[in-house]
Amino acid sequence: MQVLISYHSDYGNTRKMAEAIAAGYRAADARATVVLKLVEMTALDDLVEADVIIFGAPVHMGSMAWPMKKLIDQAGKLWMEGALEGKLGGVFATGGGFGGAGGGVEQTLISLHSNFLQHGMLVVGFPKSLPGYSDGGLQWGPYGRSGNTEGMPQGLSDGSLVASRSYGAHLAETALCLRG
Ligand SMILES: Cc1cc2nc3c(=O)[nH]c(=O)nc-3n(C[C@H](O)[C@H](O)[C@H](O)COP(=O)(O)O)c2cc1C
Repeated sequence: MQVLISYHSDYGNTRKMAEAIAAGYRAADARATVVLKLVEMTALDDLVEADVIIFGAPVHMGSMAWPMKKLIDQAGKLWMEGALEGKLGGVFATGGGFGGAGGGVEQTLISLHSNFLQHGMLVVGFPKSLPGYSDGGLQWGPYGRSGNTEGMPQGLSDGSLVASRSYGAHLAETALCLRG
């Protein structure tokens, strides 16, 4: 199983979630090859070669950071070819969350789902029974709030990282199940 985790991160929060998802995935499927790549370093061939594609982005001004959207738009070529059809997808996001847990994180997660569905991929959500859901979970996938109540950076909660890890394991179990 080839697993690609492609993410954007300026300040390291989204990278921490990516690493926790990778750790959870590897713990549930030791034989999987899990590759972490900055979205800026992700080539279209990386998407084509992966069985499981996981995208993560910080929220910038209410929606996903533009480097992630750039890759998504470039991958329109793959949509023409149907090259990602049938692959498994997962998503995650972080935001400062000033004014509440939202601030655009749900919009980011839903947009990532929408893109995967457009490609004909199977998208895996985040069941509420999994560890970390109450702190770092939304039905779309795990999320992290990295800001404090004054809108200043404070870093992710442990709950977000627990959620990320359990989401990684859930993706691995789902992929193994689908492969039979
Ligand atoms: C240009 C810019 C715009 C941002 N806009 C938002 C926003 O609209 N909503 C929000 O919740 N957080 C916003 N943030 C905060 C980031 O989403 C948050 O700090 C995130 O965890 C950063 O991820 P990173 O550490 O992986 O770069 C913004 C940050 C930057 C740099």
